[in-house]
Amino acid sequence: MNSILHFIEDNQTRYLDELKTFLSIPSVSTNPQNKSDMEKCAHWLSDHLKNIGLDHIQIFPTEGHPIVYGDWLHAPGKPTVLIYGHYDVQPPEPIELWTSPPFEATIRDGNLYARGASDDKGQVFIHLKAIEAYLKNAGKLPINIKFIIEGEEEIGSDHLEPFIKTHKELLKTNLVLISDTSMFAKGIPSVCYSLRGLSYMQIDLVGPGKDLHSGSYGGSVHNPIQALTEIVAQLHDKNGRITIPGFYNDVRKLTKEERNAFKKLPWSDKKFAKDLNVKVLYGEKGFTTLERLWARPTLECNGIWGGFTGEGAKTVLPSKASAKISMRLVPDQDPDKIAKLFEKHIRKITPKSVHITVKNLHGGHPAITPIDSPGVRAAVAALEKGFGKKPLYQREGGSIPIVVQFKQLLGADTVLLGFGLPDENAHAPNEFIFLDNFFGGIRTVAHFYNEFPNYISKK
Ligand code: BES
Ligand code: ZN
Repeated sequence: MNSILHFIEDNQTRYLDELKTFLSIPSVSTNPQNKSDMEKCAHWLSDHLKNIGLDHIQIFPTEGHPIVYGDWLHAPGKPTVLIYGHYDVQPPEPIELWTSPPFEATIRDGNLYARGASDDKGQVFIHLKAIEAYLKNAGKLPINIKFIIEGEEEIGSDHLEPFIKTHKELLKTNLVLISDTSMFAKGIPSVCYSLRGLSYMQIDLVGPGKDLHSGSYGGSVHNPIQALTEIVAQLHDKNGRITIPGFYNDVRKLTKEERNAFKKLPWSDKKFAKDLNVKVLYGEKGFTTLERLWARPTLECNGIWGGFTGEGAKTVLPSKASAKISMRLVPDQDPDKIAKLFEKHIRKITPKSVHITVKNLHGGHPAITPIDSPGVRAAVAALEKGFGKKPLYQREGGSIPIVVQFKQLLGADTVLLGFGLPDENAHAPNEFIFLDNFFGGIRTVAHFYNEFPNYISKK
């Protein structure tokens, strides 16, 4: 282990240079214009997997973006860990708000800034470098490893589920390990045991068949923007609860133990509000902020548009208005069921004055892993060694849609061993990764590979 840790220490500059190259490829999955960049990124990754010594490297094409696979299976009698990550990133826009260009990784104040630095290329790279350190120094790994890196996580992982279904033997594993979440805070390592799910909807309203002069027609027809905002405003009550009938039916209640555990975490609403530049926090009454973020479902309007939004003034009564609305879900809510409840309710509250279309854009199931499972216990031990501090247990409000499929299709629990920070601007301008966590992450996952066999046999 010592030679491995020294190697990690000695190779920091090279690691960063390589990561910068990985981050320079604009692998924006949602943008059709980046299709060839997605291919390029998959090839870059597969070449890298080969260089660090993995076998059976393959790029699997899908109807969407390719899936990259590689493995190292020379530890007979030892458990297998399937490491999952994603090489796709969110769009960088608005570009003008970036201090340095999103695809030219730049180091400032101990952070590496680039789109994907934390979510998730930087965290995928943590594993590549830990594996490399093992193979270069010990000549072998203490476990069998399978690596699967997809290119569609940020757009709902649509083609990964069918891939898993048709490659069950290839992906067979004792555990899934994912580094695509955050630690609780700087200097406070944590292991995450639950993610929220998602149901993402779009509403399109059409009022009059064409844009109208607001003077000649205002007062005669229902403005679709007004109708839409009236609908959206009805989706929460005055206690911040979602008004869709049946929405909360399947929500798993927080246990007393879990509520107490959340209360013991080092958290300040005041600091949180200050960091976000809001005077007061908002959310469902009767729950603390951490409960609302991690264990309660929410509904957000992500965007709303229609009519005239250009410079200056235009007196128009628009024909159309639209909104994108997503709901974060918690165990045991089902995204398809929620999408149906949403559509039914929206149709019911839509006035006759407008035509409505409701689209289900994508969804993902919430996930929860028992905290006494071997993988979580091994993660706790590894974090303690990697960061020199006992980690906390936490949940996360974000989603990784495929986690539940790993359980359902491969029978494997997932460990969420993430090294981001909550304020690293994921999905926003100036995304970064804190370099201490990047290197601490490499040490931690190296320890994890070493520790996991001890825990699985002790089960
Ligand atoms: N890395 C995130 C998941 C995440 C976000 C974990 C925040 C913990 C905290 C992931 O890449 C992501 O952003 N997922 C999407 C999934 C969606 C598009 C289905 C998300 O949560 O919005
Ligand atoms: Zn991610």
